[in-house]
Amino acid sequence: MKQKEVDFMVKVIGICGSPRKNGNTEILLREALDAAEEAGAETELVRLAGLDINPCRACDSCKKTGECAIEDDLNRVVELAASAHGIIIGSPVYFGSVTAQTKMFMDRTRPLRSEFRLANRVGGAVTVGGSRNGGQETACRDIHSFFLIHEAAVVGNASPTAHYGGTGVGGAKGESADDMTGIETARNLGRRVALLAARIHG
Ligand SMILES: Cc1cc2nc3c(=O)[nH]c(=O)nc-3n(C[C@H](O)[C@H](O)[C@H](O)COP(=O)(O)O)c2cc1C
Repeated sequence: MKQKEVDFMVKVIGICGSPRKNGNTEILLREALDAAEEAGAETELVRLAGLDINPCRACDSCKKTGECAIEDDLNRVVELAASAHGIIIGSPVYFGSVTAQTKMFMDRTRPLRSEFRLANRVGGAVTVGGSRNGGQETACRDIHSFFLIHEAAVVGNASPTAHYGGTGVGGAKGESADDMTGIETARNLGRRVALLAARIHG
């Protein structure tokens, strides 16, 4: 049996912002989580698809009470993110950025920021577009900015050929399963998130 690289139990969660269940993003996000698990992390994948989620309405309730005034499924996902050592956000590329579902999750984490509850967590991005140069890197960058604003540590890819995280290609549902670059970069990312999270929190 392969020796675990992480001797402290880190929890790495994947949040999938695709509206398609079992779609291209989910396939590569699962690869990232599998690699994190092989390195010794405990993992969990959350799909935003099918959940009752709503956008931030700027009521500023979170600034006064520390809690979101909207009652839907996102509060649970936000708390799950706060309980993890590593967070990988996966999103399809939509017009060069993330999906509305992914953005809703990001905006709704504002209650965590008043006390910087995501500080020192390790964040990473997996993005999938229909074209090879469809905006995967800009979508990753948007996810990286989210982590930076939360004072989380961002990991890239630690690969000579990829720099922004897990970046894949697929149009029709399932196509990313044949994208070896996507699989390799997603797996590199998952392992990096687990290893850095263990180094910071172990
Ligand atoms: C509204 C919309 C906008 C899109 N914009 C882009 C884009 O800017 N660049 C790109 O490469 N692919 C774009 N795509 C294609 C998706 O990123 C691609 O099909 C991806 O594999 C979907 O991932 P999923 O299966 O996880 O949902 C777009 C698709 C939709 C529905």
